[in-house]
Amino acid sequence: MGLFDTVSKLFISGGRFLGLGFARKAQLFTLGGKMGKLLGQSSSGENGVATILVTGGCGFIGSNYVRLVLQQEPNTRVINFDALTYAGNAANLKDCEANPNYRLVVGDIGDRAAVEKVFAEESPNEVVHFAAESHVDRSILDSSPFIRTNVQGTQVMLDVSRVHNIERYVQVSTDEVYGSLGDTGFFTEETPLAPNSPYAASKAASDLLVRSYVHTHRFPAIITRCSNNYGPFQFPEKLIPLFISNLQSDLAVPVYGDGLQVRDWIHVVDHCQGIHAALRKGKVGMVYNLGGLCEKTNMELTKTLIHLLGKPETLIRHVADRPGHDRRYAIDCSLAEKELGWRPTTIFEDGLRETVEWYRENRAWADEIKSGAYRQYYQAQYGHRGM
Ligand code: NAD
Ligand code: DAU
Repeated sequence: MGLFDTVSKLFISGGRFLGLGFARKAQLFTLGGKMGKLLGQSSSGENGVATILVTGGCGFIGSNYVRLVLQQEPNTRVINFDALTYAGNAANLKDCEANPNYRLVVGDIGDRAAVEKVFAEESPNEVVHFAAESHVDRSILDSSPFIRTNVQGTQVMLDVSRVHNIERYVQVSTDEVYGSLGDTGFFTEETPLAPNSPYAASKAASDLLVRSYVHTHRFPAIITRCSNNYGPFQFPEKLIPLFISNLQSDLAVPVYGDGLQVRDWIHVVDHCQGIHAALRKGKVGMVYNLGGLCEKTNMELTKTLIHLLGKPETLIRHVADRPGHDRRYAIDCSLAEKELGWRPTTIFEDGLRETVEWYRENRAWADEIKSGAYRQYYQAQYGHRGM
């Protein structure tokens, strides 16, 4: 038996624990006593007063989530704890800065003293944990920041949240922990974990830490695992904003390999609504898959973007593939529909058209980000691919 066989066997048993079977167990041992109240719906938010600590709220999904909560829940205070890495941009929430329910605290989730300080100052009763290194290609170039932030940073968040008796904690995870699908089938919550990139492995590791805190410490956590997001404020290293940005400047777009890899695309606001439904209605110990019910090959998507921007298909460049490239992701989100009353509602064609429009209207936002550091990354990632 080779290493991969052993690893995948381990993941299979881990996967079963992370699925529904594990969740039922977790609920059983948390029933009654002090933990009993945690198993129902969250009492905070819509009716009561809540303080949510959001980590990574200056990134793509986090900033859309902070905005959504501030708009939907006038009684909820949102504390955004973000290290402002290359991917974090305080300007993503410029429109929220004057809101008295919003505060940005600049800090690193790997810095326990800084995390303890914000908990002591703000006494949050809920945590939604987005902060992560999030780009697969960067994890292939250097996995160290991924282990530090995604694994060790999550450990700090769990420890400090536990000491402060947090009522609810949502771990924002990804479908990439499940690995790659063949031509058919879907990831369910019981699909074994089989991460293929260092990024996915670091996210799977953090999910396993969360699982262990629920099991060992009766920690009130929920995990969401979502597919590929698109929408406003996405850093122009991911396919959609990168391709829009290049096409706007009449530059070629780098399609990895044959471009027939499949991703399940979801509008970021649909994802944020799913996360919030998990926070408010999810059961402790559960994993909820969230997806867009919208599979596209990268070539289909690239041609649609080219069409929307009115550019020629001669701008498509097939370049050397991503090492270890996952072939297909597709999410079965029926559990979230059943238990959270959630399903994605954005029609992809509308969402994508509006997204292209947003990048057209906010070209200065992307230009500002594409600084010297971005150019260095672009060179390291695409230079040897002839771009
Ligand atoms: P992003 O890269 O756009 O933003 C990450 C944010 O986290 C940035 O604001 C950054 O400054 C902050 N951050 C990074 N390291 C930090 C640290 N050590 N301490 C504090 N803050 C730190 O990421 P995103 O695409 O918005 O993804 C957010 C979360 O959602 C991640 O956990 C990611 O794994 C998950 N997710 C993303 C997608 C997707 O399609 N983008 C899909 C499913 C799940
Ligand atoms: O599935 C959820 C995941 O989706 C999240 O967990 C990640 O944080 C997020 O980055 C995203 O990962 P992907 O690797 O799928 O996204 P990305 O936009 O990097 O790539 C989408 C597809 O496009 C993938 O098959 C690789 C391909 N691609 C990407 C880039 C950047 C290209 O062909 N060329 C490119 O230049």
